[in-house]
Amino acid sequence: MTCKTLDDLDLAGRRVLVRVDINVPVQGGRVSDDTRIRAVVPTVRDILARGGRPILLAHFGRPKGRVVAELSLAVTLPALAAALAVPVRFAADCVGAAAEAAAAALPAGEVLLCENTRFHAGEEANDPAFGQALARLGEAYVNDAFSAAHRAHASTEGLARLLPAAAGRLMQAELAALAGALTDPQRPVIAVIGGAKVSTKLALLGNLIARVEQIIIGGGMANTFLAAQGIDVGKSLCEHDLAGTAREIMVRAQAAGCELVLPRDVVVAREFRAGAASAVVAADACPPDAMILDTGPASVEDIKARFAAARTVVWNGPLGAFEIEPFNAATDAAARAAADLTEAGRLLTVAGGGDTVAALNASGAAARFSYVSTAGGAFLEWLEGKTLPGVAALEAAA
Ligand code: 3PG
Ligand code: MG
Repeated sequence: MTCKTLDDLDLAGRRVLVRVDINVPVQGGRVSDDTRIRAVVPTVRDILARGGRPILLAHFGRPKGRVVAELSLAVTLPALAAALAVPVRFAADCVGAAAEAAAAALPAGEVLLCENTRFHAGEEANDPAFGQALARLGEAYVNDAFSAAHRAHASTEGLARLLPAAAGRLMQAELAALAGALTDPQRPVIAVIGGAKVSTKLALLGNLIARVEQIIIGGGMANTFLAAQGIDVGKSLCEHDLAGTAREIMVRAQAAGCELVLPRDVVVAREFRAGAASAVVAADACPPDAMILDTGPASVEDIKARFAAARTVVWNGPLGAFEIEPFNAATDAAARAAADLTEAGRLLTVAGGGDTVAALNASGAAARFSYVSTAGGAFLEWLEGKTLPGVAALEAAA
């Protein structure tokens, strides 16, 4: 199934409700990372270029249906105006007479940002009456919030059924990148799955086993798999209660012809702190009073060789405790190798979800990947093979 795009909508002179995800980090009253703000610029500028009047709808944080002053989207205005390079007006509510008046009065060439949709309980409830109230602000709906598409909320799902609807440019780019990585990829495909816990990645592993040739497992997750094979992982982060589940995944992977790649060597330390004395040992030789904090150098060489023989890599999660040096070494080295192959035109690399972008950015590698998703939870749910309600609603409207 496919969605309509901006090319399919007649936008001239129309007020266009644009669902964006500008749920950005803020520090000291200022946007500290404007990645998501910059990501919606092509869509908003395209709507302006077509003579449309963009009215931005977005959430910020989790106010749970109440007005929470600290979660006002007003904080994003300077960054938005700077990124868009056009005047951005603000409506202090996203529904009601004042919002409708602000939308009606929006001059050509300017943008209106409406206050946090989650200040209303109807947003998360996907309440039809609230959806209708939003719909009164515009004549068309563009969803550019892939990273909120796993939510079936009024502004992410309901509006697609109430107005002529299309995907924005960022939504299009995300969907194309994800399709290239898993739906219709060049093979072999390698998934790199890291992070602390197997328990949060069970559905994802179950889906990927049927879709990729190899899964490289790193981070705390790998310890659970090592322990499930009877290996003593000392004081490592490990979900011992998931040993049976891990063994089941290994059996299913083998049956599906998917190779699960665990570390063959690991970096161990006795303390979890930056610069802690560390040593490289075989994966089955973690001292009882030590913990595994990174994938080892021999494993990294093996990962690089696997990348060199692959065509597609989809990456979620770090290979080690990347937040503290030197336990970012495996993540950095493997990410750089993937980026080099990408630049050489030999590999398609797609990354996203949770801490992944921060982990891959430390070495500057993420910027050289084929595509880095703006999504956290939505990327994970997509890797799990779930239908994203925001995308499904656009497809149904097409
Ligand atoms: C995100 O930041 O992951 C998205 O904006 C979704 O936010 P949510 O998890 O609060 O729905
Ligand atoms: Mg989230």
